[in-house]
Amino acid sequence: MKGVVLAGGLGSRLSPLTKVTNKHLLPIYDKPMIYYPIQTLVNAGIKEILIVTGGKNAGDFLRLLGNGREFRLQHVNYTYQEGEGGIAQALGLAEFFADGEKICVVLGDNIIETNVCKAADDFRKQRAGAKIILKQVTDAERFGVVEIQCGRIIGIEEKPKAPKSNLAVIGIYFYDASVFEKIKRLKPSGRGELEITDVNNFYIQEGSLTHETLDGWWTDAGTFESLLRANNLVASTGANQLRASLPSAAPVAVGEKSR
Ligand code: G1P
Repeated sequence: MKGVVLAGGLGSRLSPLTKVTNKHLLPIYDKPMIYYPIQTLVNAGIKEILIVTGGKNAGDFLRLLGNGREFRLQHVNYTYQEGEGGIAQALGLAEFFADGEKICVVLGDNIIETNVCKAADDFRKQRAGAKIILKQVTDAERFGVVEIQCGRIIGIEEKPKAPKSNLAVIGIYFYDASVFEKIKRLKPSGRGELEITDVNNFYIQEGSLTHETLDGWWTDAGTFESLLRANNLVASTGANQLRASLPSAAPVAVGEKSR
């Protein structure tokens, strides 16, 4: 299984912090935000990783991450999203990289306390379809929210005014290769984006979407409130599994000698 980190977008909800840099390069406590989703993939045993980025500061990802030596990767793949077409459009750019294999997709602003190893192993064994991860939240209207009947997800609504449950779809998704055909069938939503929730609903219609719930905390970091929460959670649970595995030495930028 290959991994994709989606780190495009303008980060306009975090302006002016994002006027001169990409949201995913902002600090979460003592590491750049993008370190966390990359480490989530590495912890799940994924070695081939694509970063989808965009905007004016895309080159900074290369300077920061290089070939991923800090994460014990052989190399990192990069691609560039033109404009602001949404999560599913960004994922569409990964078709060539995926090359028919299953993928695990992590949104670049999603941080988890623990890991998704079990979900990844289960999905490796799943014949086809997709798997999503759920977490109970108190502010469901900010997320994709599932409706469950008799233990099965029967639908997902994106940012519903009246959520049908308190179970949010976190930004870590597992897909088989048919995801790219599904993305091609999407139509832009009310906010003018190709929605990942619509992709997941296609899998529900096919009867091939499975789910698990996440242990430990989860947060996004795309608003001032959630960015602060992410910083506080990471700082206050210093010994959590994810931080324990993150690169600890100061990164050596590409082309720069260490001192
Ligand atoms: C996106 C997805 C949403 C998901 C969330 C997780 O929301 O559209 O379904 O619950 O990520 O972070 P957005 O980041 O666009 O608000």
